[in-house]
Amino acid sequence: LAFATRSKSVATMAANQEFTGNLKREVEKLFDASLRLTVPDGTSVETEVAASLPGKPGDYQCNNAMGLWSVIKGKGTQFRGPPAVGQAISKNLPVSEMVETCSVAGPGFVNLVLSSKWMAKSIEKMLIDGIDTWAPTLPVKRAVVDFSSPNIAKEMHVGHLRSTIIGDTLARMLEYSKVEVLRRNHVGDWGTQFGMLIEYLFEKFPDTESVTETAIGDLQTFYKASKSKFDSDPDFKEKAQKAVVRLQGGDPIYRKAWAKICEISRTEFDKVYQRLKVELEEKGESFYNPYIADVIGKLDSKGLIEESEGARVIFLEGFNIPLMVVKSDGGFNYASTDLTALWYRLNEEKAEWIVYVTDVGQQQHFNMFFKAARKAGWLPDSDKTYPRVDHVGFGLVLGDDGKRFRTRSSDVVRLVDLLDEAKTRSKTALIERGKDKEWTPEELDQTAEAVGYGAVKYADLKNNRLTNYTFNFDQMLSDKGNTAVYLLYAHARICSIIRKSGKDIDELKKTEKLALDHPEERALGLHLLRFAETVEEACSNLLPNVLCHYLYDLSERYTSFYSIHQVIGSPEEASRLLLCEATAVVMRKCFHLLGITPVYKI
Ligand code: ARG
Repeated sequence: LAFATRSKSVATMAANQEFTGNLKREVEKLFDASLRLTVPDGTSVETEVAASLPGKPGDYQCNNAMGLWSVIKGKGTQFRGPPAVGQAISKNLPVSEMVETCSVAGPGFVNLVLSSKWMAKSIEKMLIDGIDTWAPTLPVKRAVVDFSSPNIAKEMHVGHLRSTIIGDTLARMLEYSKVEVLRRNHVGDWGTQFGMLIEYLFEKFPDTESVTETAIGDLQTFYKASKSKFDSDPDFKEKAQKAVVRLQGGDPIYRKAWAKICEISRTEFDKVYQRLKVELEEKGESFYNPYIADVIGKLDSKGLIEESEGARVIFLEGFNIPLMVVKSDGGFNYASTDLTALWYRLNEEKAEWIVYVTDVGQQQHFNMFFKAARKAGWLPDSDKTYPRVDHVGFGLVLGDDGKRFRTRSSDVVRLVDLLDEAKTRSKTALIERGKDKEWTPEELDQTAEAVGYGAVKYADLKNNRLTNYTFNFDQMLSDKGNTAVYLLYAHARICSIIRKSGKDIDELKKTEKLALDHPEERALGLHLLRFAETVEEACSNLLPNVLCHYLYDLSERYTSFYSIHQVIGSPEEASRLLLCEATAVVMRKCFHLLGITPVYKI
């Protein structure tokens, strides 16, 4: 917070500070108030609060003293150096139930220790009111997440799987943060490839009306066959090129054939989405076609478009090639469609944040059309100001050989096969543990699916998305280390402790108190209270791995607690069961945000 002006009559914080979910922000509010009292009139300061590193004296620290000193020294200040400024910050901290102690260390670090009582009370309250009361609030109401977005009739490859998984998680985190999310599948359904596909369809099935999905079979094979004909047969090539013109001109017969091909592709894509439980609304490239000429006209009237080698382009500072928006044959392309979609999303859909999830290979394309949009005045100059656009890039999926992930016959890996294999493998592992004798076949199947698909998703999400990652079933399905399997088992174990206690947890929530008296209990409690600030950070930086990291830490902290403290049968049983329940609740919310189905027994 920057203070241009300041008032000495800052009210002390209410003695009963209500926890709104974001712990860091609550601490910031306290220091904001203190700084207002501490700094001289007219000084602008940005409150610097950070979570303390493990092993350090406080839970949060305020780092303003040193910076503030350099601003005010020599200006007749009553302070004698940064530690004195720190002392004043500490002394001026409003009285709050949140704070246990506040002290100054070294050159002026102000360390704040939270009250364990207040922490316990805040967790108890969450248990009663629900974890949604901890949801962050973001400065936007509506966002578009453009993700998955495969190309019709072409391969839906592991890159699209990554986009689907990452995009879904981002959408879930934004939705949790009360943002209305338009989940957009920007499928490639309008390229020049349709000319050859349609022409090939006519040749193979002169009676197009009655063509069924099974007759065409695998669209990828169909695509390859038509492509090789296109490349080798000049007559066919010519026909295909004419077909594009007729399709784009709206010829009903061509439109119908196009729709058929799209429909078959859609059925294939939906199989993947259903397995992954991902929801998407298709608004493909073709949707924007009727608007393109108009939008390009708007750019033209702003004087942005120039002629270059027969094409129409936008020259952009910082790029050595221009952005082509009309091809030399007069047709539109990927960039003209994206500019139009952006215009539509900003003006028709009133989205304030538009997020695109694709491989980093497309970064230049995004940077270029974002820049063109800024030049046109559609977006503010600063890229962190709303309405805002972000390209969420991700790295490659590699095979064990360190090369692009392929099947043995060096084909693109079919996503459905991949998911099937993950499920089969996790089922085998469950059977090896004798679960087929304990559970019903449905339970076995559902657990295998939750674990298998969860493993694929988590392996993708846990690394910084920009890094390449190696696809390895053995690793992702291991029950040790930072894997979904380990985390799902940890959650199931907590649930089983609660079950074994024989206590009605809903009853305990109402009647019993939570205490965080021991260091391991307190460390676990503090981590629980940091959930919302973590989600907010993951949202603002569009980094799902931040949440994965949090979840893994949570289960580690739970393990440290559980390996030292007895729960069932101890004098602290009720309090500790509440702590177990709070951990399980937060874990489940993490799973939910990561698109992973939790399991309750193992
Ligand atoms: N269809 C593109 C591809 O498969 C991805 C589209 C991403 N979204 C966008 N608005 N350009 O590479």
